[in-house]
Amino acid sequence: MESVTNINFYPGHMAKAKQNIINDLKLIDIVIEVLDARIPISSRNNDLEKLMLNKKKIVILNKADLADDNITAKWINNFKSNKVTAIAVEANNKKYAKKIIDTIKSESKEIVDAYAKKGRSAKRIRVMIYGIPNVGKSTIINLLAGKNIAKSENRPGVTKDNQWIKISENIDLMDTPGMLWPRLENEEVKLNLAYTNSIPENVIDKEEIAFYLLKFLMQHYSKNIEKRYGIEINKKENQKNIQTNNNINYYENKIDDKEKNTNIKKKDEELNSGILEIREEIAFKTGAILSGNNVDEMKVSNIILNDFRSGKLGKISIEMPPSL
Ligand code: G4P
Repeated sequence: MESVTNINFYPGHMAKAKQNIINDLKLIDIVIEVLDARIPISSRNNDLEKLMLNKKKIVILNKADLADDNITAKWINNFKSNKVTAIAVEANNKKYAKKIIDTIKSESKEIVDAYAKKGRSAKRIRVMIYGIPNVGKSTIINLLAGKNIAKSENRPGVTKDNQWIKISENIDLMDTPGMLWPRLENEEVKLNLAYTNSIPENVIDKEEIAFYLLKFLMQHYSKNIEKRYGIEINKKENQKNIQTNNNINYYENKIDDKEKNTNIKKKDEELNSGILEIREEIAFKTGAILSGNNVDEMKVSNIILNDFRSGKLGKISIEMPPSL
């Protein structure tokens, strides 16, 4: 299997979107950075971090309904230990509106109190939401507004006339989400963004995305595959090498780091052929078969990706906090 290459795209209007965020920042008291709970590292773009140093920030780990609850809890602790308030959110579930508003209230208390101390009239808190495409910014704005307001797509060339939505007694929300381009700095980040549908589908070969996703799932969520497709991974002799403990810190690649290079290579080959075997089993179970009993590679790849993205494979997190 070839490595993931040839990703080189940067629509010009993304630079404009970044500039829009910078221009708007001066109006803002609190910024909400929306991350995908399954990939909090890869869905982050810290381009604007320096400009935001004097802003209060809340991190929303969105799509928590699709992420592994234990890992999301670890992420929240990890942010906390870095003095950042992070909350798990399911933006397509109305009950989270209160959780977000309550967090904005508690995070803005200092600002409001400082105003009151100076004897000034009650300060209205202005909030902006930003993040990379598809993390759920518009869904969150609509959730807080209680109606359909935010457009998902960035609007290049349109002079933005900021509108504010009152979401609580003294909290106003900017009605347009700030769109950031994802960092595509290494293969792992690109793949993670592809798994979660945060970069265009034609950027990486779909079969390749599904292959690597299946590889990850077999290493960390093999039970989920067994359950979804009714196959037994443990019984397969050539799968022995990849049965790993779910607690493994895959960031540090501990699976192989004590092995000699030759062993690693051998294991890698065994692992890859094992994945193709499992993919074939999935194809047979799901009817992704062409005439002559050949695997319909595109169809089975789509099935695996769609099952992951829709949560049918269960609650799965790809990235763990580095120190845990
Ligand atoms: P964006 O503004 O950041 O680009 O993202 P947007 O709100 O448009 O959300 C992108 C997709 O993610 C949408 O699905 C949306 O419904 C879904 N989404 C947002 N928040 C959550 C969440 O907490 N959990 C889950 N499971 N999905 C979420 P879509 O399929 O593109 O559109 P639609 O069919 O839902 O309209």
